[in-house]
Amino acid sequence: MVAATITTTTTSSSKPNETLSLRADSLDVTDDIPLDEKVKAIIRGTGKLQLNRTGLGQNENRVKITAGPDPAGLEILPDEARTRMEHSGVDLSKGYPEIPDISQVPVFVDEAFAVRNEDYPYIEKGKNADPEKKALFGAAKEVIDLTKHIGTEIVGLQLADLTNQQKDELALLIAERVVVFFRDQKLSPQKQLELGDYWGQVEKHPQAAQVPGLRGVTVIWNDYKNKKGMGLTFKNSNYSNWDSDKFAPKGNQAWHSDLCHEHQTAGYTHLHLDSIPGVGGDTLWASGYAAYDKLSEEMKRFLDGKKAVYVSAHSYLDRNDPFGGPKRIERVHPLVRTNPATGWKSLFVNRTMCKRIIGLSPVESDIILSYLKDVYEKNADIQVRFTWKPSKPGYGTSAIWDNRVSQHRSTWDHEGHESRHGTRVTSLAEIPYFDPESKSQREALGLPLDE
Ligand code: SIN
Repeated sequence: MVAATITTTTTSSSKPNETLSLRADSLDVTDDIPLDEKVKAIIRGTGKLQLNRTGLGQNENRVKITAGPDPAGLEILPDEARTRMEHSGVDLSKGYPEIPDISQVPVFVDEAFAVRNEDYPYIEKGKNADPEKKALFGAAKEVIDLTKHIGTEIVGLQLADLTNQQKDELALLIAERVVVFFRDQKLSPQKQLELGDYWGQVEKHPQAAQVPGLRGVTVIWNDYKNKKGMGLTFKNSNYSNWDSDKFAPKGNQAWHSDLCHEHQTAGYTHLHLDSIPGVGGDTLWASGYAAYDKLSEEMKRFLDGKKAVYVSAHSYLDRNDPFGGPKRIERVHPLVRTNPATGWKSLFVNRTMCKRIIGLSPVESDIILSYLKDVYEKNADIQVRFTWKPSKPGYGTSAIWDNRVSQHRSTWDHEGHESRHGTRVTSLAEIPYFDPESKSQREALGLPLDE
């Protein structure tokens, strides 16, 4: 019989990134210490931060990272990012990025589930904003819709200088247009955090790499993760868009929506890229309002009010079966949700996190979910593909989207040959809800569906 194992990675400075396999039959069972306590002590002692997924994707999702600021990361930090951090007063003396302390990282899935598992206040800033957005549009040089149904670019405004009224109007615009872009932005990570704080409680990720000293400002940097063993290549970068259970998603290349497993899921999310490849590294978004409106009226009626199970991106262990393999946090939310700013219904489905529809048989759920994911992914007319384009030195580009009504993914065509680095701040929003009185976007706007 093969012994069950947990694979972990050490953080000891003498043996950085050494992989250790903990075998079930190697544990001393002659004392009274419960098995889960033993496993936790060993994992905390070895500093494992992220468990592998099971299946063919085995090994692929392992990122070997040492806790604390990483000196090796600093060596490959692109010049533009370094300048931005230094000018913003970020302490880079010990390394970059900062990996959360292992003692803060939940080991068991019940511990991870307990994080923010209670109601907290959320005020939707877009709800009472001026629908004409006079303060925002009046100050902008240009407002350009990039496609009919999704994506708007605002020219001539600095995010760092927005008034509260403009921030409220921007929230409404994002909720309506799904994603809004700002090029040539001079934006410190502190200002980015401040803006996120204005829109809701900023998510502080227990596992993700952060800007040193700035919890809540997550580093988006696949070149770094690849150096640590993520294994994202030209060939495999899209496997998870076929089967995200078999092939663990790597570096945001699979269609997803952020943090759907949270009790109060992600709302406005702000990605600022300070280092952008000359060509490549585009990001795509798709509209959940429009995905819903693509469905037949019969299908809409069938889905309205249904609930589904959403899982976390990161894995943990089952306390009662620590050798039973990685487990993800699961939460139940409405499959069709109402956006509190616009009042419109949106299809809350995405390829990697939405796993099954409650009340249907596994076969029915798989078939329907697979169709709904296709609706999002195959309808190019409800998507926008954004080319970031390098800015003038010291300036970057921002995208802010509403996670409640969209999914997104990036592309790995630059293959890490040119740097791509940025910071992301996510404001958590309301407990997802479905208001049976709410309308679809096209219904609310009086737009035809089949003419
Ligand atoms: C994300 O998935 O939040 C990041 C997308 C990107 O890197 O373009």
